[in-house]
Amino acid sequence: MAEPLLDAAWWDQRYRDGGDGWELGEPAPPLRHFLESDRQAPQPPGRVLVPGCGRGHEAALLARLGFAVVGLDLSAAALREARRCHGDGSTQLQLQWLQADLFDRQALQAGGLGAACCDGVLEHTCFCAIDPGLREAYIAQIVQLLRPGGWLLGLFWCHNRPAGPPYGSDPDQLAAAFTRAGLQAELWRPAQHSAIGRDGRPREQEWLGLWRRPA
Ligand SMILES: C[S@@+](CC[C@H](N)C(=O)[O-])C[C@H]1O[C@@H](n2cnc3c(N)ncnc32)[C@H](O)[C@@H]1O
Repeated sequence: MAEPLLDAAWWDQRYRDGGDGWELGEPAPPLRHFLESDRQAPQPPGRVLVPGCGRGHEAALLARLGFAVVGLDLSAAALREARRCHGDGSTQLQLQWLQADLFDRQALQAGGLGAACCDGVLEHTCFCAIDPGLREAYIAQIVQLLRPGGWLLGLFWCHNRPAGPPYGSDPDQLAAAFTRAGLQAELWRPAQHSAIGRDGRPREQEWLGLWRRPA
């Protein structure tokens, strides 16, 4: 079967049809536990990008923790949902939504996301949602958005089923790709506290990683 063209229209349709089997209705528990209670967790303040933020649960969590957050998504439908779930920021919460393609540097620039503008990036099910042929470009884009000393925190779905999305990955290859791109690993391990999936079992093969761009 031909691979789908994973453009804005395709993602909009997933949200409209309710074809959003990834939706948890809350921040992914491994990320929430790590950010709220692990001594290695990045600390606010700082500007954090959440690419492919969907309904924005992780973006809103980061804003509640005291970060200034940009939730980015290609899909207008996703960001309508994000605004419905979490509002548009307030004087207390610094939370902004930006509709743009992560790979479109001009659009990111126009939205205030230039090179080295982010203290951190949080990844959750965007990496597995893009065409695997674009992974090197995804990593390069994240690295150029991070300031020296900036961090990438991610929860990655390392399943080995064919096709996608969600596309699988191998934990060793994934870690090697981030290292090749110049990031230093501070943490890379099977995730704890994985969410219970719609089949009633914990989501399997999730890996949690924290990398830093050398200062
Ligand atoms: C599987 S969903 C995950 C949403 C959210 N991160 C979550 O875990 O609930 C993937 C999201 O990435 C967005 N996306 C896919 N490709 C993108 C791109 N090139 N730039 C920005 N967002 C993208 C989709 O619109 C979709 O909302």
